[in-house]
Amino acid sequence: MNDSGIPQEGHNKIPVGWMAFFVGMIIFVVVYVVRFTPAISGWSFYQGYEEEMKVGQKAAASAPADAGKYIGKADAIAEGKAEFATSCAACHMADASGGIGPNLKVALKYGETPDKLLESISAGRPNGMPPFGQQLGKDKIAKIVAFIESLRK
Ligand code: HEC
Repeated sequence: MNDSGIPQEGHNKIPVGWMAFFVGMIIFVVVYVVRFTPAISGWSFYQGYEEEMKVGQKAAASAPADAGKYIGKADAIAEGKAEFATSCAACHMADASGGIGPNLKVALKYGETPDKLLESISAGRPNGMPPFGQQLGKDKIAKIVAFIESLRK
């Protein structure tokens, strides 16, 4: 009961945590408004969107060229040759002339562009070509593609 005649809340200080929260909210609102008001900070949703799109398009544009990026490069071809001897020669022979797997120096069923070769090697093909994507990774496969290309010329 409050029968002293003095309003009871007058005896209580505001809790520190509540005060901190109150001040914090004001600071947050001011910072937020300044940061995200185009007229003040120059912030723009569309600018951010366009920058992200540019990054994405660049990545997409460079992806298809990847498979052929080592073609004609002697070092990479030598590495590809070594990898081919380890992982592929059992079926395709060291010079890719064919055994269990087909001759890779002639016209190919699944396509001969660097992209198609990379696809054949990383995903495998139905009649007995195992997938090597997990085991070798894109970069090593690109070197193998360069090696196969070097045999085809
Ligand atoms: C277990 C045996 C085996 C191994 C190991 C193997 N291949 Fe094959 N490969 C095959 C067979 C069989 C085919 C034919 C698949 C088909 O016709 O569907 C084939 C098909 C391919 C093709 C597609 C040929 C075409 O006609 O389009 C390419 C390219 C190829 N192999 C590359 C490689 C490379 C590079 C490696 C090593 C990383 C490798 N292969 C390892 C058996 C093998």
